Amino acid sequence: TLNLDASTSVATIQPTMYGLFFEDINFAADGGLYAELVKNRSFEFTLPKTGWLEPGTDKFSLNESSGKSDVIKIGEDRANSNYLRVTVMGPDYVLINEGFRGMGVKEGDRYDLTLAAAVGEGNISRIQVQLIDPDGAALGEATIDLNGSDWKNYAATLTAERTLDKAQLKLTFTGTGTVDLDMISLFPQDTWKGRKKGLRKDLVQLLDDMNPGFLRFPGGCIVEGRTLAQRYQWKKTVGPIAEREYLINRWNTEFDHRPAPDYYQSFGLGFFEYFQLSEDMGAEPLPILSCGMACQFNTGELVPMDELDPYVQDALDLIEFANGDVTTAWGKVRRDMGHPEPFNLKYIGVGNEQWGPEYIERYKVFNEAITAQYPDIVIVSGSGPFPDGEFFDYGMQQLTELGTELVDEHYYRSPEWFRENATRYDSYDRNGPKIFAGEYAAQSVAIASPENKNNWNCALSEAAYMTGMERNADVVVMTSYAPLMAHEEGWQWTPDMIWFNNLQSYGTANYYVQKLYATHAGTDLLRITEGGEPLTGQQAFYATAAKDATTNELYIKVANTGAEPQSLNIRIAGAEPSTTATVLTMASDDLEAVNSFAEPMKLSPIESSVNLQKNELRVEVPAHAFVVYTIQL
Ligand code: AHR
Repeated sequence: TLNLDASTSVATIQPTMYGLFFEDINFAADGGLYAELVKNRSFEFTLPKTGWLEPGTDKFSLNESSGKSDVIKIGEDRANSNYLRVTVMGPDYVLINEGFRGMGVKEGDRYDLTLAAAVGEGNISRIQVQLIDPDGAALGEATIDLNGSDWKNYAATLTAERTLDKAQLKLTFTGTGTVDLDMISLFPQDTWKGRKKGLRKDLVQLLDDMNPGFLRFPGGCIVEGRTLAQRYQWKKTVGPIAEREYLINRWNTEFDHRPAPDYYQSFGLGFFEYFQLSEDMGAEPLPILSCGMACQFNTGELVPMDELDPYVQDALDLIEFANGDVTTAWGKVRRDMGHPEPFNLKYIGVGNEQWGPEYIERYKVFNEAITAQYPDIVIVSGSGPFPDGEFFDYGMQQLTELGTELVDEHYYRSPEWFRENATRYDSYDRNGPKIFAGEYAAQSVAIASPENKNNWNCALSEAAYMTGMERNADVVVMTSYAPLMAHEEGWQWTPDMIWFNNLQSYGTANYYVQKLYATHAGTDLLRITEGGEPLTGQQAFYATAAKDATTNELYIKVANTGAEPQSLNIRIAGAEPSTTATVLTMASDDLEAVNSFAEPMKLSPIESSVNLQKNELRVEVPAHAFVVYTIQL
């Protein structure tokens, strides 16, 4: 029997409590959220000539005397420095783009094809563009009539006659001679909010449905880069998309399980789009920037302290880009992109997962400069990738002494660790920094291995752990599962909250746990007591309660990680609860169970109701279950 006082708020639950961590890992941006279907549309990624099938190397290609294509470099000093010169010698020369592990197209849907072309020698007058299946059969086509030797933009619309996850784009030429091509792009018209060249609707919908309090972007390790030259530089990701400079993705690698030699960042999904997405979802934007340290798991390259200024300036300019008046240099860039109103940026992260004295001395410089110019901006600092131990203790101590407002903690640990550490924040210094649990996920086996699953054991353990975060909402103010999403055929890391292929997507059990928390966050933390003592929850039974002051709803979240059902009796004082509670239950005796493309909702909340007895909620919580009770007060 537990007691709950609904009239006394013991802490405010911040609107940012449950949010999203986005990183372009596992094809989450190019090939995922960013709906572009053409891989390497501007021929910048030449190692190898990724995405474009070479004559003589695939089954569509024809004898080499029919034509050839060469990547031409204009110069090193420009963002879009390459284009393709196509030399057509016979009628059967074609160019084929394979997409990101194929292109997903849907019957009846319309697709916008755009390209830039300049006709050269000869008489090439027309390009036929087709969607084709793996056997070469067309499932949608259009033509583009070319005119002129100067660069011009052309557009056509294709309608898919069939649904297919492995379509390709084929270009065939009328005439012989040369034609230069660049920015060959194909987007569905049916994007999130119908935006041209926008985001994949089903994926954003899954995110939006979570009611996220914030969106952290763009990572993760890609913020840092393997080397400093390969770090994420936000200024190269804004402005016209043709002028955004490609970058090899930090996850394009020899990385253990799924090498992705074709993984690069086009930055079509850049900082403007991240801010816009945050705004769409009503989530606080939380950009994380390089602090002048490359990933310490890789080269660990450091920018010398006397060369740190450009990095700090990037942070200051980003705040101006997000919030500045349209008369400011960066505010004007935002306005020119179609958003004169500020994005109301409140948070900025300095460094992703760095540790040691090298981090602290660089953080201090950022902290001073940002605070001097923008005293209201909350700076998020990092505590490294370790949830405990020497490096973690050092970082926390230093950051506490510096009066840091918000520290980002990461932990990828076993399900047992999560269940055993629900009390982690009970002992945190109430006068120290607030906590952003910026990356966490229970690992069924070794991180990133193919056997590492989003199973019920992991999701339930996270649900239990999260009661501890919520119970400490006076210290923990932001939390996010990581990584967020993964392409079925293009992943580098497991587990991931959302899985997708070229046509479908589904939320894992972990997704539904996160969603239950985020959509039942409440505004005020309530204390649950057992025998007069606050309930901490470590013996297979975990609980937290919150009230939403706007709806006057009471949310009681309970995780039973044990193999037996548990009788629960909660006495509610300080309010007149309604006679019925809505019950959302996730439960399974199979701790190995997972959601999948075939069974996307296997582990998801089931709704029922239960009557209260006077002011008491008397229920039996099933074994291995996470349950949210909602009661109108
Ligand atoms: O979420 C995957 C990676 O884990 C992130 O890029 C990094 O911050 C952490 O090590």
